[in-house]
Amino acid sequence: MGRFNEKKVLITGGTRGIGKATAEKFLAEGAHVVVSGRTQHSVDAVIEDFACPGLFGVAGDVSLVEDCQRIVQTALDWLQGLDVLVNSAGVFQPASIEDTDESVWRRIMDTNVGGSYFCSRAASDALRKNRGCIVHLGSESGINGYGGSTAYCASKGAIVNLTRSMAMELAPQVRVNSVCPGVVDTQMAREGFAIEGDQDKGMQQQRQSYPLKRVATAAEIAAAIMYLASDDARFITGESLVIDGGATAGK
Ligand SMILES: NC(=O)c1ccc[n+]([C@@H]2O[C@H](COP(=O)([O-])OP(=O)(O)OC[C@H]3O[C@@H](n4cnc5c(N)ncnc54)[C@H](O)[C@@H]3O)[C@@H](O)[C@H]2O)c1
Repeated sequence: MGRFNEKKVLITGGTRGIGKATAEKFLAEGAHVVVSGRTQHSVDAVIEDFACPGLFGVAGDVSLVEDCQRIVQTALDWLQGLDVLVNSAGVFQPASIEDTDESVWRRIMDTNVGGSYFCSRAASDALRKNRGCIVHLGSESGINGYGGSTAYCASKGAIVNLTRSMAMELAPQVRVNSVCPGVVDTQMAREGFAIEGDQDKGMQQQRQSYPLKRVATAAEIAAAIMYLASDDARFITGESLVIDGGATAGK
């Protein structure tokens, strides 16, 4: 047991990558956790994988407002309250401005910004009641601009100021923070940065571009999420914590 003994936690996008690594850490520290994923198959797989009575899952598409409400309501029913919401569901779709038509733009914005916003909105009363907190998944791409990923960068830039504004509105009961990782070794990054279909080559190129000459692990980002959700961070709100191996520090 640990820092989150009996705490009630909802992690969107908790079936894979950073969200799954975060679920694992919360469970290890005694929390009751609900994970959401886009498909029932992904939810079933993570439930089977962890085989833990403290874990429940719900499928839903966070780009749809009604699914955000249903995901949060399912979590509230199962957990009987909420202490921590981690908004990890997201999509990365590198595309030039020319290739970013309305459907690409809407998919990225509705998932990355809309999903974080509407899940938080649905959870805000319960979080206020428990004096809980929210951790959003921003990105180093929300701080630096990258040609070829304008819509994604815009969505993650939005998370940084959504974090500040939500922190103002939900204070003093609810703390709201985000983490802004550089590249993390997950399926999202492997697929998104593949060079002519070669994922290893793509990741190798990414590693070389970082001052620390590597990318992050999902567990390293999960550790920062846990810190922001913990009592140790009780005076931190409206903050976006950059975890990028020095990428934004300079050249
Ligand atoms: N991997 C990276 O390099 C990196 C870097 C910075 C920020 N991030 C951000 O971290 C978050 C998690 O990324 P990851 O690397 O773990 O990705 P991932 O692709 O491994 O996992 C994404 C998760 O989001 C869920 N998801 C995606 N679209 C959804 C939708 N419409 N409805 C419901 N669930 C949906 C998936 O089911 C999955 O559980 C994302 O917000 C991502 O933008 C990732």
